[in-house]
Amino acid sequence: MTSYKELGLVNTVELFRKAVKGGYAIPAYNFNNMEQLQAIIQACVETKSPVILQVSAGARKYANQTMLRYMAQGAVEYSKELGYPIPIVLHLDHGDSFELCKSCIETGFSSVMIDGSHLPYDENVALTKKVVDFAHSQKDYVSVEGELGVLAGVEDDVAAEKSHYTQPSEVQDFVKKTGVDSLAISIGTSHGRTKFKPEQCTRTKDGILIPPPLRFDILEEIEKRLPGFPIVLHGSSSVPIEYVKIIEQYGGKLSDSVGIPEEQLRKAAKSAVCKINIDSDGRLAMTAMIRKVFSEKPDEFDPRKYLGPARDELKKLYAHKNQDVLGSAGQA
Ligand code: G3H
Ligand code: 13P
Ligand code: ZN
Repeated sequence: MTSYKELGLVNTVELFRKAVKGGYAIPAYNFNNMEQLQAIIQACVETKSPVILQVSAGARKYANQTMLRYMAQGAVEYSKELGYPIPIVLHLDHGDSFELCKSCIETGFSSVMIDGSHLPYDENVALTKKVVDFAHSQKDYVSVEGELGVLAGVEDDVAAEKSHYTQPSEVQDFVKKTGVDSLAISIGTSHGRTKFKPEQCTRTKDGILIPPPLRFDILEEIEKRLPGFPIVLHGSSSVPIEYVKIIEQYGGKLSDSVGIPEEQLRKAAKSAVCKINIDSDGRLAMTAMIRKVFSEKPDEFDPRKYLGPARDELKKLYAHKNQDVLGSAGQA
C-alpha cells in the first residue's frame, strides 16, 4: 500500500475549490509514455499551472500500472528540477470497476473516476458509492469523480453509440447519495476526433465542419441545482484543423474530423466546469509531427529524431491550452 502523499501528489479537492471560485479549469491530460508526460510537465511548469495526469484502462494495459505510477512520481521530481513544483494529481480515467479503482488507490493514485454512466441509475449510484466509501476512508483522502449521462464516441475501452445528455433532475440526488467530489456530465462533447456527425454540422466554403454548440442550458440548470459543485467535461479536444491538415498532407486520412471550438471551452471553464479532459488533441499533435519527419527525412531512424519534435509540439499545445483556453496558467 502506497499513499499518494508519499509520492508528492495531491488530490483534487483544494484544486477544484480554487478553480470553481477563480473561474478557470484544471487541465486533465492523458499520458501513456515518457514523451507525453515530459511535454505535460514542461508546459505546466512553464505556465505555472496545476495538472491532472490521467491514466486510462488502455494506458494501464499499454504501459503497465507500476511504470505509470513511478513515472508520475518522476513527474513530481521533474517539476521540482525545472524550478517550479506544481500541484500534480494522478487520476484514473474511466475506471469501470471497484477492483480497478481500489488497485489504483492502493498503488498511489490520488484520484479516481468510477464511470457507471452506462449502468441503470440505481446501479450507477451503488457502484459509485462503494468506490467513494473506500476512497474517502483512506488515511489520505482520495477524491472520486462520478458520471451521469453518456458521451458518444469510441476509444479503446470507452464506447457508446449515442450520447444521452445528463438529466439535471438527477444530479442532486446522485451527489447526495454517492458523496462524489466531482461530477462528469454530458452536454454534447464526445471522445475522439469525430465529435459530431457531418449531418449535425454546417460547413465553411472550404469544407471545414462547424459543430453545433454545446448544451450550455443543461450546464446552467445543473449549476443551479448544485451551486459551486465541481463539474467535469470529458471529450473536450478541439481537434485543431492545422494538425488534421498536416496529417493528411503527409499521407494520413482523417475525414470528417471535428472537435469542440476553443471559445466554447473558454466559456465552460469560467463556469462550474473545473476539470477539462483532453487526450485526442495530443494524439493529433504527435502524429502530425511524426508523419512530417518520416516524410521529409525518409532516412531517419533514430526515434529521438521524431519523438523529440512530437514532444516539442505537444508542449506548445498544452501551454496554449493552459494559457488561452482553460485559464489555469498562473494558478499553481
Ligand atoms: O476517454 C478516453 C481517453 O481518451 C483514453 O483513451 O482508452 O484509448 O486510452 P484510451
Ligand atoms: P478527447 O477524446 O476529446 O480528448 O477526450 C478525452 C477524455 O475525455 C478522456 O477521459
Ligand atoms: Zn473521457
